[in-house]
Amino acid sequence: MAEDRFYITTPIYYVNDVPHIGHAYTTIAADILARYNRLQGKTVFFLTGTDEHGQKVEKAAKEKGRTPQEHADMLVDNFKSLWQKLNISNDAFIRTTDTEHVKTVQGIIQLLWDNGEIEKRQYSGWYCTPDERFWTEKEIIEGNCPDCGRPVDEIEEENYFFLMSKYQLRLIRHIEDNPDFILPHTRRNEVLGFLKNNELGDLCITRPKSRLSWGIQLPFDEEFVTYVWFDALLNYFSATRYLVPHPEQAKEGDFWWPADHHLIGKDILTTHSVYWITMLMALKFPLPGNIFAHGWWTVDGKKMSKSLGNVVDPAEMAEKFGIDAFRYFLFREVTFGLDGDFSERALIRRLNTELANDLGNLLSRFVTMVGKYQDHQIKIPSGDRTELNPFAREIMCETLPALNDIQTEHWSKLRFNTILDYIWNIIRAANNHIAQKEPWKLAKDNQSELNRVLFNVWNALRLTAVSLYPFMPDTCENIWKQLGLHSLVEETIQSIPTTSEQIPSVYEWDWKPDYAIKVSKGDPLFPRVDTNKRDKKEKKAEGSPAGKDNKTKEAGDNLITIHDFAKVQLKVGRVIDAQRVEGSSKLIRLQVDTGEIRQIVAGIGTSYSPDDLRGKSIIVVTNLKPAKLMGVESQGMLLAATDSEGVLSILTPEKDVRQGAVIR
Ligand code: MSP
Repeated sequence: MAEDRFYITTPIYYVNDVPHIGHAYTTIAADILARYNRLQGKTVFFLTGTDEHGQKVEKAAKEKGRTPQEHADMLVDNFKSLWQKLNISNDAFIRTTDTEHVKTVQGIIQLLWDNGEIEKRQYSGWYCTPDERFWTEKEIIEGNCPDCGRPVDEIEEENYFFLMSKYQLRLIRHIEDNPDFILPHTRRNEVLGFLKNNELGDLCITRPKSRLSWGIQLPFDEEFVTYVWFDALLNYFSATRYLVPHPEQAKEGDFWWPADHHLIGKDILTTHSVYWITMLMALKFPLPGNIFAHGWWTVDGKKMSKSLGNVVDPAEMAEKFGIDAFRYFLFREVTFGLDGDFSERALIRRLNTELANDLGNLLSRFVTMVGKYQDHQIKIPSGDRTELNPFAREIMCETLPALNDIQTEHWSKLRFNTILDYIWNIIRAANNHIAQKEPWKLAKDNQSELNRVLFNVWNALRLTAVSLYPFMPDTCENIWKQLGLHSLVEETIQSIPTTSEQIPSVYEWDWKPDYAIKVSKGDPLFPRVDTNKRDKKEKKAEGSPAGKDNKTKEAGDNLITIHDFAKVQLKVGRVIDAQRVEGSSKLIRLQVDTGEIRQIVAGIGTSYSPDDLRGKSIIVVTNLKPAKLMGVESQGMLLAATDSEGVLSILTPEKDVRQGAVIR
């Protein structure tokens, strides 16, 4: 990968989905990385787009009396306009119906066919229409899809297969040799566990046209189309042929391929780390630098779903609280990679404290003081350029190097909230500096110290703006202007020294522009949200003036009576034997003595090995309806706690208790 260019992708979203917070999350993460890399002077290609082929689009179009293309053309603007509203700086937007994409896919499938990487076979399997994928007999659960729980149909037909299985060992080796290839590491371990415990099959990549016509026709068999995963994954490559900033560079070899990061949600990790990577291996193309699978958002503790009516509309959030506050919240609240919970309350808390108080007030107090005491001028204290005062030293020698130094790997490992932590250290240090030095007192009798203190705060705010810019671009340009400077992005990029004789970059303490700096007050950065007013408004909207009834009812919805609880039979059990379920990295089959021997299948295989479990006392739900997991019957469930990293901890009685003891 060329050092001076940066290529980042998001998944291409299903065109007939209504864009929600999940889509916005991945796209904003990619935007943050794209903006950061542009500020480093790199040439960036940031790609997003829509996935437009497949059964769902075909079906939805038919229901609306449109052609699939007309349908896709109408819906694509939902995504395009959302990205504009959220200030997304994508360089290109790919649609899988683009003629050039279709041509690239056909070229590639022909190449793989010519090289014997694709084979035609009779195929039978269990097909989940909503998920558009086949499952094996072993994988389905009581006639239902193991993923979405909906019924599957048995289908027999001829199809083309990509011979994925032969790349299994090479894939394992690549993941093992490149520890950061899949991040976070918990996800990498999951993929490795899966690959080591399962035999990889070949991948069905076509549908007969008689069953699905809305796909890309095979160049060597007009009866078949390829669609969704094979077609969709190739977008990352095909875009580098026709959508890149300098297509001529793409033609000259591999300036733009491979991508530095593919950002995805954890739901599509297998398709990316297994299907996509083996496809690239078969094509003999270089592999991407990293696949980062982030976690999922729930809303107020519940899974987001249309039926619950709790789907978060990112445009509405941005309108209500401001684009930058919304962007900030998503990456401050949760470690990128883990699951998180969205609530307006949590967003408002951060907006009022960290944004309005810590940052907004700092800027406005500073600008007011410079106006009042120094006639809007920033006076650079002599001597400060060679020897840093203690405040400057702390920021320049500790905080900033940790933040910017690639050795810390925060940026390359996408540790967004750690980065925000460092930035907030600068902001807090500046607030403390003002509190300690009391510039309003210095203004009376110590002009030179006042100059120094205000210059310190000016620098701290300037460094905050440039570091925070990828997360909150408009806010930071606004800070930059209030600090008396012209353009954050332009001046940062222009200031990057190419030789040691050049002026220092904006990241240095002694950087200054070659024009007079005039600090000027602008609008407040983040108007506070009045939570009292908001609560009253909400209660009014709920139709109860006191709001009390609603509150009780809301809590009441989640409460159970003692009789409800008594329905659950819990017993102490002792694990007699434990074995991994063949073909699964998560499931362990336990023989448990709860007064009688029962078999329990538990999804604890990434936190425990069978050896850890034998002889352990555990808590078991004994009156749970038996269910089959990967074809193995489970007669009960054990209790375990999950920590924020997803690591499980099995509950066990505090004292030695006989097996079969009842819990109440
Ligand atoms: N079209 C495929 C991707 C093909 S990529 C070659 C697809 N599309 S999708 O519209 O379903 O978008 C999936 C992506 O949306 C996830 O990978 C994730 O980026 C995002 N999210 C969807 N729901 C989400 C949450 N509840 N939380 C966080 N992100 C989730 O799959």
